[in-house]
Amino acid sequence: MRIGVLTSGGDCPGLNAVIRSVVHRAVVDHGDEVIGFHDGWKGLLECDYRKLDLEAVGGILARGGTILGSSRVQPAHLRGGVEQARSHVADLGLDAIIPIGGEGTLKAANLLSEAGLPIVGVPKTIDNDIASTDVTFGFDTAVGVATEALDRLKTTAESHQRVLIVEVMGRHTGWIALHSGMAAGAHAIVVPERPFDIDELTELVGKRFSAGKKFAIVVVAEGAKPRRGGSMEFEQGTKDIYGHERFAGVATQLSVELEQRLGKEARPVILGHVQRGGTPTAYDRVLATRFGWHAVEAAHRGEFGMMTALRGTDIAMVPLGEAVETLKTVPAERYAEAECVL
Ligand code: F6P
Repeated sequence: MRIGVLTSGGDCPGLNAVIRSVVHRAVVDHGDEVIGFHDGWKGLLECDYRKLDLEAVGGILARGGTILGSSRVQPAHLRGGVEQARSHVADLGLDAIIPIGGEGTLKAANLLSEAGLPIVGVPKTIDNDIASTDVTFGFDTAVGVATEALDRLKTTAESHQRVLIVEVMGRHTGWIALHSGMAAGAHAIVVPERPFDIDELTELVGKRFSAGKKFAIVVVAEGAKPRRGGSMEFEQGTKDIYGHERFAGVATQLSVELEQRLGKEARPVILGHVQRGGTPTAYDRVLATRFGWHAVEAAHRGEFGMMTALRGTDIAMVPLGEAVETLKTVPAERYAEAECVL
């Protein structure tokens, strides 16, 4: 078999572990040939690739980022993109393509699959928002980074009697905010799924000070927004060239508002891309390796139009179409478990 692999969308710890696993399983166990496209779908559309053998993937298991590079280019965004992809797959004699990516990448994968290309998807994202899989690799690493930052910020917030508003990633969903906030014992967790009321948030943090506490830590997902009709003026972001929202900085806006309302010094801390960089945790390396192994197996069984998924402790194959229908958001019951004890 000849297999093409690519990584597309925002990078995420564990991508290299999938690439390595695909190459090991395909080359060593099946005698396949594997090529890696550079910079996501762009590489497929421009026929820009390199051969991936055992030497090419040596020493990358623990490495962050992706040796193949990534971009947010999607075939559907480009005129004739789908036809171009089809003709390159035929010219290169590919029997399977394994795209590793998040929501946008998997939507493109589904589109190409519906157009008849032999696709087996592998989900990734630190946001953990892909439906049909219990967890995506990258999430555990990001939560670990955010938790460590929160632990550190707690001690400095306490020394200076400040309110620190810590912004974590999470465009549409608050999984990183929820898990890191729970793990670090944050005093308030703000997620996009529950638009916040600034008066309630002020009251919540204010109660802590009234009870004699001298500092507070608020974790907020970057995509969180105020409830409609509330008393806070909120600056919305603009869109980037791929239609993704460029956030205007919820933590910065909240810190101004909370400082005025509480009369306490409040500072924003934006964790940003540090959550996405660096070496993956052991959990993410294992999940990524299992996804790669199962993607190759699915390709050999001819199970195209499918995606690897974690279901409990097992890896299952699920239809790509189903996986991209909705995002996996934080359910109310999960948020209720984390509601803070001040
Ligand atoms: O999709 C993963 C993610 O890290 C989001 O949490 C974040 O909103 C986005 O990517 C940032 O993307 P970029 O690096 O392109 O700004």
